[in-house]
Amino acid sequence: MKRSITQGIDILKSGGVLAIPTETVYGLAADAMNVEAVQKTFALKGRPADNPLIVHIAGLDQLHQIAETIPEEAALLADAFWPGPLTLVLPKKPAVPDIVTAGLPTVAVRMPDHPIALQIIEKAGPLTAPSANKSGRPSPTRIEHLVQDFGQEIDFVDGGECTIGIESTVLDLTERPFTVLRPGAISASQLSGVIGESVATAPDSGRQGRSPGTRYVHYKPAAAVRWLDPEGEPEANTLYILHSGSLSFHGVRQVEFNRDYNAMARQLYDLYRRADANNLTAIYIEKFPKNFREGLLQALINRIQRSVGE
Ligand code: TXA
Ligand code: MG
Repeated sequence: MKRSITQGIDILKSGGVLAIPTETVYGLAADAMNVEAVQKTFALKGRPADNPLIVHIAGLDQLHQIAETIPEEAALLADAFWPGPLTLVLPKKPAVPDIVTAGLPTVAVRMPDHPIALQIIEKAGPLTAPSANKSGRPSPTRIEHLVQDFGQEIDFVDGGECTIGIESTVLDLTERPFTVLRPGAISASQLSGVIGESVATAPDSGRQGRSPGTRYVHYKPAAAVRWLDPEGEPEANTLYILHSGSLSFHGVRQVEFNRDYNAMARQLYDLYRRADANNLTAIYIEKFPKNFREGLLQALINRIQRSVGE
C-alpha cells in the first residue's frame, strides 16, 4: 500500500517493514536495531539467514552507531562517494544485532543518494534494506516490481523509477588488499584513485568467500538468459536485448540501447520481469567487447553473467 514519508517513518519506528526507493534499486527497510523487524524482512524475502544485510545511514553520526572503527580510507571514500552507490564493509559495533550481519564481525554500510530515502533514514534509521525482491528474483526498480513479488499489501513509499537500476558496489575495507565483493556503478579504479592504493576485485583475489551473497543464485528471471550468437536463427517467444546499434533482426521482439549503457542498466531488471510476464522462454543479450570492463558497464556485465549462470 502506498504510504507518505511520514506514515512510512511511523511504520518503521513501530517495528514494521517498508519498501523505500534508492538510486540503485528499491530496498525492503526495517529498523536495524530491532531484531524482530529485521527478522520480518528475512521472512518476507525468503532470504537465507547466513546472507547479511546492508545498513543504510543518512549521516556520519549514524555511521558511528554501526561501525566500531572507521579507517581513514572509509572517511575518504565517504567524502568522495556518499551519498551514493557505494557500500563499505567495516568492523561492526557490538550493538548491531547478529541477525543483521549473519553473525559476522563486520557490517556493510551505505548512504543512498535519494532524497526520500535520506529523509526516512534520518528519522527512522539506521535501517537494514536488502533489495526489495523475493530471494533469487531480479531486484525491483519500479513499484510494479514490488507488487509482483509481495502483492498489494506491501507498504512502500513511491520514488518512481530508480535512476541507476543496478545494486551498489560493495567494498570490503576490513582486510588488505581492499576488495570489491560486488561491482556496481563506482569502479575499483575510482575507489583506488581516492584512497591511493590498489583495490582488488573478488574473483581475481580468490576471496569470494568474503561476500556471502555471491553464494546464492541471483538476478534470475524465469526465462533463460543467454548471450546472443549473431549467427543463430532468430527464435520466437524470445526477447533480444541489443546495444551496439550494429545488429538487426527481423520478426523478433528486440530492444536496442545504441551504446547507452546507463539506460541499459536502468532497464535490465524491468526487461527481465517483462519477459516473464509475457511468458517468454529466453532472453538473448548481445555480447560486449572484452575491453569494455569499467564502472557501470562492468557491473552490468557481471549481473548478466550471473543470470546466464556463468
Ligand atoms: O544498492 C544496494 O546495495 C541495494 C539498495 C537497496 O541499497 N541493496 C542491496 O542489498 O543490494 P542486498 O541485501 O540485496 O545485497 C547486499 C549484499 C549481499 O551480497 C550481501 O552478502 C553483502 O551485501 N553483504 C552484506 N553484509 C556484508 C558483510 N558484512 N560482509 C560482506 N558482504 C556483505
Ligand atoms: Mg539483493
